[in-house]
Amino acid sequence: MSSSNLVIANWKMNKTWEEATEFVDFFLDKSLDKPTIIAAPSLYLQGLHLRNKNPQISFAAQNLYFEEKGAFTGEISIPMLKSLSIGYVLIGHSERRQIFQESDELIAKKIAACLSHQIIPVFCFGEPLEIREKGQEIDYVLAQIKSGLALTQLNSFKQLVFAYEPIWAIGTGRTASKEQAQEMHLNIFNALTAEYPKLNPEEITILYGGSCNLDNAASLFSQPNINGGLIGGASLIAEQFLGLNQI
Ligand code: PGA
Repeated sequence: MSSSNLVIANWKMNKTWEEATEFVDFFLDKSLDKPTIIAAPSLYLQGLHLRNKNPQISFAAQNLYFEEKGAFTGEISIPMLKSLSIGYVLIGHSERRQIFQESDELIAKKIAACLSHQIIPVFCFGEPLEIREKGQEIDYVLAQIKSGLALTQLNSFKQLVFAYEPIWAIGTGRTASKEQAQEMHLNIFNALTAEYPKLNPEEITILYGGSCNLDNAASLFSQPNINGGLIGGASLIAEQFLGLNQI
């Protein structure tokens, strides 16, 4: 049985500063089996990064804007993140796509900007329920991936992390079955190796996200093409997130 290579906590718009520091302090003396990333509100990134002493933990922003600087009120840039030693960012999360109307074109610009500045995007995609009910989820997701990478020349699969998150499973308690998730991950893996035949397929990381928790993670992570998890609700409690790290 395989296990996961990477787990990412997506805190979304949750936690006060006090709660955030308690969470990070909980991990000070815990030995973690694998790289673990916390996508925290950007307001907290510097403070948490300076406070953290666990070498397996790093931090990610939940979003950024692709321009380097300028009149973009409310946005944060790649140089800002790099100046705080933050090396990861979520791009294209379905909540950004749906609530904040982020388009495939904008996501492609963000991914290209990340790669040209050596910051690792966690590129998120996934189908809505109506697309799965029509049986069109694989074509839909592969098209999302293609347009997200349209402005990018990939030199290595280590330059980014992929995250499949079916929208109908996010925050709903309804997880994709391990068969549904594995089928999608295998299709993504095959499409990537066909599109980039010169790159090392062993460096592909595809996370599953969507109501992933302590009850279902072991069975999801046992699948050959599921390389870890992007975890929302179940990442908010430190003990649970530690348990997910140990699967
Ligand atoms: P969930 O969120 O685990 O609460 O479903 C996952 C995500 O949105 O990244």
